[in-house]
Amino acid sequence: MLDLFSDEAPWSEPLAEGAVILRRRAREQGEMLLALIDQLAQQNPFQHLITPGGHRMSVAMTNCGDLGWSSDTRGYQYSGEDTLTGRRWPPMPEPFRALALVAAQEAGFSHFQPDACLINRYEPGAKLSLHQDKDEKDLRQPIVSVSLGLPAVFQFGGFERGDAVQRVLLEHGDVVVWGGPSRLRFHGILPVKPGVHPLAGAYRYNLTFRRAR
Ligand code: SIN
Ligand code: FE2
Repeated sequence: MLDLFSDEAPWSEPLAEGAVILRRRAREQGEMLLALIDQLAQQNPFQHLITPGGHRMSVAMTNCGDLGWSSDTRGYQYSGEDTLTGRRWPPMPEPFRALALVAAQEAGFSHFQPDACLINRYEPGAKLSLHQDKDEKDLRQPIVSVSLGLPAVFQFGGFERGDAVQRVLLEHGDVVVWGGPSRLRFHGILPVKPGVHPLAGAYRYNLTFRRAR
C-alpha cells in the first residue's frame, strides 16, 4: 500500500510537562529493531507473567540489559536473571541504547543511562491496565517507550488512578518519553485491535527503557 506520509520527518507532540510523543522517531529503524527483538526472544522467550494478584498478564514480556523487570505472586522486581532460563538477560543491543539516548535527549533529558529494557508483545486483545512505573530507584531518569507493529491506544493520566486520561494512538515508530514532573503519571494500553502489520504481523511490540538501579 502506498504510504502517503512515508517521507514526512518526525515531529513532536507535547503530552504534559516533561512528557512528549516523538512521532515516527523510530520508524526508519523499525525493521532492524524488530529483527533484534526476534533474536533476543529466541534466547529469552516471551512469557505471560503472573501478577501479584494471581492473574496471567495478557501482554507477553522479555527483557534485555543489566536488569529485567518481572512479576510473580510475590510482587514486582528487577533482577539480573531470567527465571525461565536461569541465565542473565542478554546485553542491550547498541542500536536500542542509541535510540533511547537520542529520544531522551530530544525530550530534554540529556543524561539518560538506561540499564533495563522491557520488551512487551501484545497480541490482539492484550492490554496493560493503568499503572505507574515506580519500581525504579532513580526517578529523575525518564522512561523512553518505543512502539512497533500494530497500533494501540495509549492512556496517559495523572497521579491518581482515577484521574482523567488523555488517549492517543501510538503507531509503528512512535516514541514516547515521560520524566521530570510527569515521571509518575499513570499510563496504560487499551486492548489491541486485530490486524496485520507488514513488518510485525499480528503483534504490537513496545520497548521501554528505564534506569532501574
Ligand atoms: C509500559 O507501560 O510498560 C508499556 C507501555 C506500552 O506498551 O506502550
Ligand atoms: Fe509502564
